[in-house]
Amino acid sequence: MRRFRRCLRAFARHKGELIAGAGCLVVASALDVGIPLLVARGLNRLEAAVRAAEPLAVSRDFLFFTVGAIVLGTALKGIFRYGQRYLLIGVSRKVEADLKRDLFAHLTSLSPRFFAASRTGDLLSRATGDLEAVRLFLGPGSMYAASTLLLVPAALAAMVHFHPLLTALVLLPLGALAFSMKAIMPTLNRRSESVQAALAEISERAQENFSGVRVVKGLAREEWETRRFASSSDVYRRHQLSLGTARALNHTLLYASKDVAFLLILLIGGLGLLRGSFPVGGIYLFLDYVNRLFWPLIALGWMAGMYHRAAAGMDRVEEIFATRPEVEDPREPAAVDSIRGGVEFRDLTFAYDGEPALKGIRLRAEPGQVIGIAGRIGSGKTTLVSLLGRLFPVPDGTVFLDGTDLNRIPLRRLRESIGFVPQDSFLFSETIRENLAFGFDDLPTAEAVARAAEAAGLGPDLAALPQGLDTLLGERGVTLSGGQRQRVAIGRALLQDPRILVLDDALSAVDTETEAGILERLRRGSRGRTVFLVAQRLSAVEFADRIVVLDAGRIVEEGTHAELLLKEGWYARTWRRQRVEGELESLR
Ligand SMILES: Nc1ncnc2c1ncn2[C@@H]1O[C@H](COP(=O)(O)OP(=O)(O)OP(=O)(O)O)[C@@H](O)[C@H]1O
Ligand SMILES: [Mg+2]
Repeated sequence: MRRFRRCLRAFARHKGELIAGAGCLVVASALDVGIPLLVARGLNRLEAAVRAAEPLAVSRDFLFFTVGAIVLGTALKGIFRYGQRYLLIGVSRKVEADLKRDLFAHLTSLSPRFFAASRTGDLLSRATGDLEAVRLFLGPGSMYAASTLLLVPAALAAMVHFHPLLTALVLLPLGALAFSMKAIMPTLNRRSESVQAALAEISERAQENFSGVRVVKGLAREEWETRRFASSSDVYRRHQLSLGTARALNHTLLYASKDVAFLLILLIGGLGLLRGSFPVGGIYLFLDYVNRLFWPLIALGWMAGMYHRAAAGMDRVEEIFATRPEVEDPREPAAVDSIRGGVEFRDLTFAYDGEPALKGIRLRAEPGQVIGIAGRIGSGKTTLVSLLGRLFPVPDGTVFLDGTDLNRIPLRRLRESIGFVPQDSFLFSETIRENLAFGFDDLPTAEAVARAAEAAGLGPDLAALPQGLDTLLGERGVTLSGGQRQRVAIGRALLQDPRILVLDDALSAVDTETEAGILERLRRGSRGRTVFLVAQRLSAVEFADRIVVLDAGRIVEEGTHAELLLKEGWYARTWRRQRVEGELESLR
C-alpha cells in the first residue's frame, strides 16, 4: 500500500465524505443481510400457520405487516446504497482529478529534454489509463471489497445458524470456483494485455498513416500500408478470439458452480423440509444468500487483478513525479524590480551532453539594442537564444540580465520578460485571435490584438480570410502556410510586449519583401526593447546594431553589417552568395 501513499493523502483530504460514505455502506450491508432474514422469518411463520390451520385474517395481517417491512427496508437500502456510491465513487473521481492536475502541473515543469526523450502516447496513457486503473482499484474496487467483507461473515453466520452441514456443502462449489478463478486469471490478464497491445498497434498504424499521408501518397505506398494494416488487424482478431475462449470457459465455470450450489440447497433443503427438520424460510435464505454472495466473491478475484494493474499504473505515474525538473526556481531569488533588458553572456560554455554546443561565448547587449545572430546549420544559434529563457540548465555566472545572474531571477519573471518565437512555432487548434492572446489572464483589448497582428505583418492575410482574426485553425479549421504561422507566432510574442524579443529564424518562410516590412515595423515599434534576431538569410540581420557569426559553438566574426563585409569572412561570402541568389530569384 506504500506505493499508493500519494493517493491516500489525496483521499484523506475528503475525510468527511469518506466517513459518511462508509456509514452508508455499513447500513446498506446490514440491510442486505437483514432483509432476507425478514423474508425467511415470514415464510416460516406462514408455513407454521398453514400447518396449524390458523384463522386466515391473522396470517393475512402478518403477511401484510411483513411485506410492508420488506418494502420499507428495501427502500432504505436503496437510499443508503445510493449515498454510498455517490459519496465514495465521487471521492475517487475527485482524487483522480486532483492527481491528474498535479501530474499535469509537474509535467509542465519538466524540461524540453524530458519530452524529447518520452513518447507522447506513453505520457498520455499514464495520465489517463494508469490513473483510471488506480482510481478503479482504490475507489469502486475497495468499496466492493469492503461490502463483501461485511456481507460474507454476516451471511455465513446466519447460514451456519440455520444449517451448518448445508453451509459447508454449499461452500464447496463456491470454493472450487474461487480456486479455478485464481488459476484462470493470469491467462485472462495475459490475453487481455495482448489484445490491448494489438489494439494500440492498430491505432498507431492508422494514426501514423493519416498524419503522414503526404509521405505515403508521395511514395505510392498505399497498398503496402493497407497490407500492413490488414496484418495488424488479423493479429488483433486472433488475440480477441483467444481471449474470448478463456472468458467463455470462465463464465461456464462461474454459472456451473452457482447451479451446483442451488441444486444442493434444493436437494438437502427439500429433504429436510419433507422430514419437517428444515423450514421453507431456510431454503429461501440459502438460495438468496448464495445468490448475493456469488458476485462479491467473484469481485474479490477481480480485485486481485485490479490490484496488479493499479500497482503497475501507480509505479508508472510515480516515475514521472520522481523526475525532477532540470531547471528550477532559484532558492534565494534576487530582488528584481523592473527589467530593462540588458543581456550579457560571460564566457558561456554549454553542452547538452558530451561535446559542448557553445564554447566561450562573450556577448553583450545593451537595453534596446538589436543583436543579429548568424551562422551555418547546427552552429549553436538556437541553443544560445534558448539559454536566455533557461530552457536548459545554464551554468552559474555565465548569463546575466541587467547584471543579475539568470539563475537567481524567478523563472516566471524571467520568461515573462522574454518574447520567444521559436524556429518551429506551434499553434493551437483555436482561432487566430486566441492564438495571439495565448496565456493572458486579462484578455488584451481587441485593438491591442489587431495592432500586434498588423505589426507581425498579418494584415493582408487576415483581410483574405472570411472570418479574419476569428478564423479557426487546426484540425477543424484552416491550415495556415508556414509563413503565416510564423507571423502569428511573432504577433503572439509582440502582444506580450516583452522587454526582450527573440526571433529564432522566425522569418525564414516569409518572402524578402514581407520580411523587410515586419523588420521595419519592429524597429519602429520596439524602442527600448532588446531584440535577438537569429537568421539564415542575412538580409534579416543587416540592420542589427551588432551581428555575431557562430561556427561550431564559437563566435567567429562580430561587428556591424558594414564591418563584417569588409572582413571577407563567412558573413561577406554568404551575403554575396545570397544577393546573387536573390537577384536570380527575382528574374524568374
Ligand atoms: N536538445 C538537444 N539535445 C542535444 N543536442 C542538441 C539539442 N539541440 C541541439 N543540439 C545540438 O547542438 C548543436 C547546435 O544546435 P542548434 O540547434 O543550436 O543549432 P542552430 O545553429 O540553431 O541550427 P539551425 O540553423 O539548423 O537552426 C547541434 O550540434 C545540435 O545537434
Ligand atoms: Mg536553430
